[in-house]
Amino acid sequence: MKIIQSPAELREWRQNLPPEASLGFVPTMGALHQGHLSLVQAARAQSQLVIVSIFVNPTQFDRADDLNNYPRQLQQDLTLLQEAGCDAIFFPQVADVYPWGTGRLHINLPGLSDAWEGVSRPGHFAGVALVVSKLLMLVQPQRLFMGQKDFQQTVVIRTLLQELFIPVELCILPTLREADGLAMSSRNVRLDAPARALAPGLYRCLQAMQTDWHTGMTPADIRQRAMDALLAIPGCKPDYVALTHAHTLQSLEQRPDDADTPVVALLAAWLGGVRLIDCLVIQ
Ligand code: PAF
Repeated sequence: MKIIQSPAELREWRQNLPPEASLGFVPTMGALHQGHLSLVQAARAQSQLVIVSIFVNPTQFDRADDLNNYPRQLQQDLTLLQEAGCDAIFFPQVADVYPWGTGRLHINLPGLSDAWEGVSRPGHFAGVALVVSKLLMLVQPQRLFMGQKDFQQTVVIRTLLQELFIPVELCILPTLREADGLAMSSRNVRLDAPARALAPGLYRCLQAMQTDWHTGMTPADIRQRAMDALLAIPGCKPDYVALTHAHTLQSLEQRPDDADTPVVALLAAWLGGVRLIDCLVIQ
């Protein structure tokens, strides 16, 4: 497994790959869990070569404490990726990715990057869009692998690929969950025991939204019941509960006439000082 640190080394590695070999790319911020490894596995199955980036991207953090507390465990990540059969790791420093600083380019996607997560984390998706654009320019993969858990992120990136005519196939893999339903996330390690025990309540809330949807309830009632359920979890501070069109992320005010309209439930909540997000495609 080749460990690459600089953009120049990465370009050289990329240029020397056999032209016919397809390259799958999994961007990460490290602190890898089974969810990331399932992306690597999918990339392996669909591409001849797999590269993973590990880069805690400062431009997508709106709070310094969140950036500083983001879990970092490089040695363990490298072992996991070696075992997963990854071909190369791109592990740049901030100055490698942003040699001219972080302020020269902003990529906003109105209506997408400023909704839901974007309200609570201003600038987050601009940072994600910027770093993913940079990484794709450097890696030049045929396929990009991302997890559905960060649903809004996948919508932002799909739109980015379209807008910039980036010839990359976006492959979105299902959310991996712990046995009790908690969506796997690098942030879960920051939950203390009581918060960890309560955290599966978020997924139960999404499942209830799905059931309510299929019993024909109105979006407003579904959201209200979900909000009440979150508030009933001790110490839980809901940030938002949304029921949206899955492609546009526009909030559904009424049930669509068309039963084929893709619908997703999204939520974010604080639990034990940790902000968790989860989602479920319900139609
Ligand atoms: O999902 C993540 O871990 C990050 O947002 C990503 C896509 C690696 C960009 O920094």
